[in-house]
Amino acid sequence: MSTDQSVPSAEQAGQDTASAAGRPAGLEAILLVGGYGTRLRPLTLSSPKHLLPTAGAPFLAHQMAKAASCGVTRMVLATSYRAEMFREQFGDGSSLGLEIDYVHEEQPLGTGGAIRNAASGLHSAPGDPVVVLNGDVLSGHDLAGQVRAHQEASAAVTLHLVEVPDPSRFGCVPTDSSGRVTAFLEKTPNPVTNRINAGCYVFTRSAIDAIPAGRVVSVEHETFPDLIAAGAVVQGYPDTAYWLDVGTPETFVRGSCDLVLGRLASPALPGPCGEALVLPGAVVEPGAKLSGGSVIGSGCRVGAGAQVEGSVLFDGVTVGAGAAVRNSALGRDVRIGDAAVLDGVVIGDGALIASGNELSCGMRVWPGVDIGPTSIRFSTDA
Ligand code: GTP
Repeated sequence: MSTDQSVPSAEQAGQDTASAAGRPAGLEAILLVGGYGTRLRPLTLSSPKHLLPTAGAPFLAHQMAKAASCGVTRMVLATSYRAEMFREQFGDGSSLGLEIDYVHEEQPLGTGGAIRNAASGLHSAPGDPVVVLNGDVLSGHDLAGQVRAHQEASAAVTLHLVEVPDPSRFGCVPTDSSGRVTAFLEKTPNPVTNRINAGCYVFTRSAIDAIPAGRVVSVEHETFPDLIAAGAVVQGYPDTAYWLDVGTPETFVRGSCDLVLGRLASPALPGPCGEALVLPGAVVEPGAKLSGGSVIGSGCRVGAGAQVEGSVLFDGVTVGAGAAVRNSALGRDVRIGDAAVLDGVVIGDGALIASGNELSCGMRVWPGVDIGPTSIRFSTDA
């Protein structure tokens, strides 16, 4: 967006809104799901991160259920990487009680470019609020409250902001005494605030249409700073509820476990909360111990005396007798040998980790790789 474009509020411009024009007042949302998910490789070699099994459902199903519970009735998925998999999973949305449409980018257009591109699938009028969600965030914040705050402020955009203990790892977002965002600051060792952009926005539709079409645009680096420079109202919506960006292996596993443990409620959880979620068709042999919000996928077999703690096992995984799997993500059809030890690792689909191995400290094993017996150890006693 160029800085000479100002984006007036609906009231200022006397713009059409859905309710004013007699259309249904259900909210529309754009879900940004076109990224490559490189930080989650190798799990994302075969699937977008948004479809990875998370607490027994595709990750996006949790986000969709939350958005629906806050009044969203229609979603436009902004797809690029492995776009076809989304339609296969969600179809027209009717099975979820939603209307879902898909808009594709040949090449990813960045967050702002993707929002602009997805506008072709929106039905909203220029003055309507449109929810925009990064497709890799779990959040318990009050989305309906964010929409209300947006309308009360007559804002062009209202951003969910969260406080983090170490904002130096992120760009930070200062606000003034009225809650208006004053700047988007790049990563710095001495941030002026611990508030960061949480990746959930409410845009007035006309502000989406003002983003330049057909090229790569970043909301953080271009759209939001340009709106502020042009004097548009960019409002902050700070909230302290549960929030997690599941873009890394550690946070992906933690997010799944938190859902199973009930630290964040999700209508899409396919079972009761507890120490573990065992999906239909999985076999857990006597003496095996499941804990920490682990998920045991359909068709998995966990051997006698094995321990699975705080981990996500995709469908068809075998864990041998006496093995220990902690804080790890195991892709489809992975096989773990008897007494092997895994802690904080990611294992790609179909890989074999034979008995006598110890894998730890963020190690990632690529799909289909076989690690033979007693090949890798972390013990000091060899
Ligand atoms: P990494 O490759 O691991 O950095 O992740 P990412 O680029 O897939 O995700 P990132 O956290 O940077 O982006 C936040 C959200 O926006 C994710 O849900 C992405 O899928 C989505 N996203 C990022 N870039 C694009 C894009 O160019 N087009 C679309 N449609 N979505 C995008």
